[in-house]
Amino acid sequence: RHCFSKSADSYLYCEGVRVQDVMDGAERSPFYLYSKAQITRNFEAYREALEGLRSIVGYAIKANNNLKILEHLRGLGCGAVLVSGNELRLALRAGFDPTRLNLFFPLFPIKEIPIFCLANGMICGPGGELCIFNGNGKIVEDLVLAAEKGVFVNVDSEFDLENIVTAARVVGKKVPVLLRINPDVDPQVHPYVATGNKTSKFGIRNEKLQWFLDAIKSCSNEIKLVGAHCHLGSTITKVDIFRDAAVLMVNYIDQIRTQGFELEYLNIGGGLGIDYYHTGTVLPTPVDLINTVRELVLSRDLTLIIEPGRSLIANTCCLVNRVTGVKTNGTKNFIVIDGSMAELIRPSLYGAYQHIELVSPPLPDAEVSTFDVVGPVCESADFLGKDRELPTPAKVISLLILSIPCTGQVFSSFTNWRLMHFQGAGLVVHDAGAYCMSMASTYNLKMRPPEYWVDDGSVVKIRHGETFEDFVKFFDGILYRRILIF
Ligand code: LLP
Repeated sequence: RHCFSKSADSYLYCEGVRVQDVMDGAERSPFYLYSKAQITRNFEAYREALEGLRSIVGYAIKANNNLKILEHLRGLGCGAVLVSGNELRLALRAGFDPTRLNLFFPLFPIKEIPIFCLANGMICGPGGELCIFNGNGKIVEDLVLAAEKGVFVNVDSEFDLENIVTAARVVGKKVPVLLRINPDVDPQVHPYVATGNKTSKFGIRNEKLQWFLDAIKSCSNEIKLVGAHCHLGSTITKVDIFRDAAVLMVNYIDQIRTQGFELEYLNIGGGLGIDYYHTGTVLPTPVDLINTVRELVLSRDLTLIIEPGRSLIANTCCLVNRVTGVKTNGTKNFIVIDGSMAELIRPSLYGAYQHIELVSPPLPDAEVSTFDVVGPVCESADFLGKDRELPTPAKVISLLILSIPCTGQVFSSFTNWRLMHFQGAGLVVHDAGAYCMSMASTYNLKMRPPEYWVDDGSVVKIRHGETFEDFVKFFDGILYRRILIF
């Protein structure tokens, strides 16, 4: 069951709420609209998939950092995967407590676990939340905060290790670390979202493994090696890729364990793709993913960590836009909407496909035409969809009646007449929950959109939209003084 669907009346609904009605009541467009229940369902899919394994789901906050969503996921029993000091600060604000671990335990459903003590001295139990700090350029200041809070930290390079050790000394606490290994497995995705190939900037290669093990041994007062991590890339649609990586990773773990390290965790990263095309193609589910690595994890008595972002949050949300107008240049029809690459950059940046649909029903005699759906931003890269077939919506009728006497325009053909009167229609970009709002910019002084979710039949605002005042406030109290004098 999916949260966004067309009902018998041909309107688009989100969990029983008509998206057109949300549009009519929202403070402005574009806006993001989520289904809280779909977030829960996506998380439950992982929880069920992980049954029988000691495991932790760490949500990759970079995918979507809405505080309400973080609080909700934490409440469900999720951990947090962070890539910056500010993501860590936000996770703490959302109530994540990195000193407690939330293990999905083989024998007990999560809500019934009593407090457990792990071998590494940490307490785990209901409401506990593991936090993992990833990244290839972590700075000492942020690592100090991570060390203070007991966050697991991934080691990405020689200098990263040095910085982690420095932070541990500053805080006077031993930092639990995982080695981020670059296994050189091709994830078969867009090169911008591939991270585990040998020439990628992330992780360490096997030829350096021994150096890292020796270095970690010599810093045993500051750090404790607790696991190994890899992340292959994002939008992966074949589970064999995860299996290939897991085989390599358990071999590394065997090798590391023979040197006296007590590794407990295998972290296989995130990366599971979703059905952006809405063509009904059957893609691997969390169950398929976990089942391909299950035996390997059990055979080495490991705790599995998984770091999903997209597969937890992408399909829970649409970007809802209004049509500003329609134009034709040569043979190309354009629908110009108020949303743009500033709010949703994935099509421009990765050539990504995200499904586009009208929120209200088409006219009974609607004509389907092919459009590029574009925003108002001054870039030819500003498109949300290319060559999309869309029917003229019913809303056109009322607009037409209102506008013809006012404009007095004469239209040369019926098709033109239709195209000119698309204004105000609602149009959604689907699967906008991951890497859309979190990658939004203010280019052309576009304001980041408000966010709403449907929570048990009610539409609730979960983030304010940015305002013009937010832009000018950065100039308040500025004194025109040089900070350096040459
Ligand atoms: N763990 C690590 C270390 C990561 O780098 C990422 C994503 C994840 C987990 C979560 O991966 P997911 O389950 O969401 O695929 N902006 C791009 C995606 C970049 C992903 C970066 N790393 C996009 O819009 O497609």
